Amino acid sequence: MNEGLTLQERLDEFSASDSLRRAIADAVAALAQAAIHISGLTRRGALAGVTGQTEGRNTDGDIQKDLDLRADRIIRSALGSFAIAVLASEEMAKPEILNRGAAISVAVDPLDGSSNINTNMSVGTIFSIVRTPADIDTTFMQSGEAQLAAGFVVYGPQTSLVLTLGRGVDVFTLDSDGDAFRLIRPMIQIPADTAEFAINASNQRHWEAPIQAYIEDCIAGADGVRRKDFNMRWIGSLVAEAYRILTRGGIFLYPADARDGYSEGRLRLVYEAHPMAFIMEQAGGAASTGHARILDLVPRALHQRVPLIMGSREKVRRLERLYMSPDIKSERNAPLFANRGLFRN
Ligand code: AHG
Ligand code: MN
Ligand code: MN
Repeated sequence: MNEGLTLQERLDEFSASDSLRRAIADAVAALAQAAIHISGLTRRGALAGVTGQTEGRNTDGDIQKDLDLRADRIIRSALGSFAIAVLASEEMAKPEILNRGAAISVAVDPLDGSSNINTNMSVGTIFSIVRTPADIDTTFMQSGEAQLAAGFVVYGPQTSLVLTLGRGVDVFTLDSDGDAFRLIRPMIQIPADTAEFAINASNQRHWEAPIQAYIEDCIAGADGVRRKDFNMRWIGSLVAEAYRILTRGGIFLYPADARDGYSEGRLRLVYEAHPMAFIMEQAGGAASTGHARILDLVPRALHQRVPLIMGSREKVRRLERLYMSPDIKSERNAPLFANRGLFRN
């Protein structure tokens, strides 16, 4: 696929004469149009009335900022006239039935990283496209494997769209005239061996033992079992962390922790972890709770939270081994585990 191709050209190639693929392509095109509108708001910020002020709380009690709700409305109107059966959003208590007979349905996190809105940091939009099941009420109770497409947009120095249609991951950037996303990275693959981890270290005292052990070993660096130094990042926007990992590898961790309300971590399964996991695996990476593959999980509730560990595959596998190890201390010091040749990730 040649770089510079527009998103619409890519979608036209994908959909050809297949009606389901056409429906997916049109939904992605509608979401991309909404993203261009949202990008205009994030670029203008306060000049467009975007100040990050609190406007309410969503079902889970999470604070809703002005742009959370504006982004939700923009996406809804972009999709509303479009043939999707059900729309689910982080900002809506329940899914909304739009066109009962439509083949596909969409779940969105309209604005990810909203704590960053008024600090001029990258924020984003995350979406997941699934086939509408016979029982429409179970649309978002399907395993992550049921996704037909997934993507996210980062409103950062560039506005970039990351998309998987089930065969690899392509990265597009919004052209300077702001009217078309153009392909910049076709079939991106996550670098395997980057010494970089992302976690909110202020929660360290609340982590489970495997996470404590994993991060302790990263911090021990060349003086510890990993025998190399690591770098740490924490942006507070899942989309920005994911984009960095796709670009240069590493691992992102938002684990379960002992704080009230965080027994399943903070991130939502249906419209954050499922789409991110689809993208990570399509780019050669992995996404896990530590105990289970994210794409195998079947949600019990729309806003269900889930621990999310994702990134370079061998790094995620290393953490899963720690979760499986009855005695983590000996595991970490075991020559095989510490051996640079085998598990140096
Ligand atoms: P959202 O703004 O949609 O609620 O998402 C914020 C998420 C995610 O983007 C980010 O990685 C994480 O919350 C940051 O959590 P902490 O503020 O607890 O670090
Ligand atoms: Mn989010
Ligand atoms: Mn959000």
